[in-house]
Amino acid sequence: MKSSKNAYGGADTLICMGKGLERQRGPESKKEEYIIVEIGSGASPYIDSPELSKEYIDKLKEDESIYFIATDDSGGSLGTGRNWFRLNDEMRERELEKTGRVHFVLASGHQLPFRDNSVAEVIFRNVLGDPEARKPLEMMREAERVLKVGGVLKVIEMYTPHIARQNMDFLSRARSLERLPDAEKTGFVDETAIDEAMTRERAAAFVARFRKKELAS
Ligand SMILES: C[S@@+](CC[C@H](N)C(=O)[O-])C[C@H]1O[C@@H](n2cnc3c(N)ncnc32)[C@H](O)[C@@H]1O
Repeated sequence: MKSSKNAYGGADTLICMGKGLERQRGPESKKEEYIIVEIGSGASPYIDSPELSKEYIDKLKEDESIYFIATDDSGGSLGTGRNWFRLNDEMRERELEKTGRVHFVLASGHQLPFRDNSVAEVIFRNVLGDPEARKPLEMMREAERVLKVGGVLKVIEMYTPHIARQNMDFLSRARSLERLPDAEKTGFVDETAIDEAMTRERAAAFVARFRKKELAS
């Protein structure tokens, strides 16, 4: 598929092609891409969180294999989230925008523009618990499809955890996913402290992680 720039920073070029990322990073780079996809990033994308640790930010900046792709099916919310990210990135002097590896893509969570088994991390934050979430079951199916074996699907719910827990039933029953113990470290740096900080102030808030495993054929 032809690569093209879009209003959200040209991230579609990352997704639609087989070798595009390699081209962007130069032929010398042999390291496998570590692609993080947030589904339903809305006006408050994970990558804009004040809770991100210095270690997380520094690693994302220095490691050219890491991409963060925020997606939402609402262009308005996605655009607001992108603008907040850019503003805060400058104000907090994080300089993540300069990496060219943080992208905002208009996409339905139930029809993701990613190849099967291509994503290292999927984040649902305050999406599976959102009573207005569109097609949550299909979103979870898509998340499972795009995840690599060994990849991690992360659910963070701060506001309406009872709805998220109902939806998570699907994830718990999926044969290809295993729930990870709460203390298990996941991510390109340990993200448990970051996620805990996001949920600390709210009694019923939770984080749940699932790892995709190989299924015997
Ligand atoms: C409650 S907001 C959460 C936003 C952000 N993740 C946060 O933590 O504040 C839920 C977001 O999910 C998005 N959303 C709901 N259903 C969706 C779908 N099927 N595909 C993509 N985005 C969806 C909405 O547009 C909205 O931006």
